[in-house]
Amino acid sequence: MTDTTVLVLGGTGKTGRRVVNRLKERGVTVRAASRSGDVRFDWDDVNTWEPALAGVDAAYLVDAQDKPGVWDAEAALRELSGLAVAHKVRRLVLLQARVSEPVGGKSLIAGERAVKESGAEWTVLRPNWFFQNFDEGVLLDGVRSGELSLPAGSGREPFVDTEDVAAVAVEALLGDGHAGQTYELSGARALTLDEAVKEIARATGRDIRYVPVEHQAYVEELVSYDVPADYALFVADLVAQIRDNKNATPTDTVRRVLGREPRDFSDFVKDAAARGVWNV
Ligand SMILES: NC(=O)c1ccc[n+]([C@@H]2O[C@H](COP(=O)([O-])OP(=O)(O)OC[C@H]3O[C@@H](n4cnc5c(N)ncnc54)[C@H](OP(=O)(O)O)[C@@H]3O)[C@@H](O)[C@H]2O)c1
Repeated sequence: MTDTTVLVLGGTGKTGRRVVNRLKERGVTVRAASRSGDVRFDWDDVNTWEPALAGVDAAYLVDAQDKPGVWDAEAALRELSGLAVAHKVRRLVLLQARVSEPVGGKSLIAGERAVKESGAEWTVLRPNWFFQNFDEGVLLDGVRSGELSLPAGSGREPFVDTEDVAAVAVEALLGDGHAGQTYELSGARALTLDEAVKEIARATGRDIRYVPVEHQAYVEELVSYDVPADYALFVADLVAQIRDNKNATPTDTVRRVLGREPRDFSDFVKDAAARGVWNV
């Protein structure tokens, strides 16, 4: 595999960074691409796409889901994957989300069709919410402040480690038998936000609470912090997927692909607490 070159979009992000590290460990030549990455790639600047793709054997695709109203995932991914195939990129591994219903009026899996129809070998990854939202993502500030307010009620989510998502992505990029597969990736246990936050509180010795709030109150709170209204609704609807237990059943995909159990939330919490990420 040492003569293989892989393009990793979102190469500075939660999964992409880990995919880059794992590919390097396997001796693969990697292009870590994003607006601030080693290789410049910008979804909003089509001129950056071709230089990133040229000479690449396989690509890990992370889209720009954070732009509901603006972003047409299917059109962008159709253009990008067409360009990839024209440049003889053989394999595309697409990160989406385990959210099959439209959220805030947008499908989070709309890009899949474009990649599947591109003519390349494809694998789609649909993970649940990441562990790393708690220590490097959208939930970090709330946890650090001691009060995580979300409209998630007492719904359950089988949070997954981005290390496991990255490990599956690398298998799909380099290994055999993953073409044409859609992998729903979860952790082993479905937790409520209350249970998750209590684990963090125990591990840190801090008083940290989960506070369930109403959907509309949450939208209004985000808007009061200058979050655009359509984005606030998108985020609240995304959280409502947890409240309504939409994707609460753990899957066995990590074990099937990697031959081991997914990492447990408690191990993640122990490590993150030891790193001091939740200290104030
Ligand atoms: N967070 C979750 O729990 C979760 C769960 C399931 C699925 N997902 C999916 O994972 C994907 C990534 O979400 P994330 O929240 O985990 O973010 P992330 O990967 O941690 O960060 C986004 C990455 O994309 C890059 N990026 C952002 N805007 C870009 C643009 N216009 N052009 C090129 N690159 C851009 C960023 O780097 P630069 O800033 O350097 O450009 C960064 O590397 C989304 O498709 C999301 O639906 C997330």
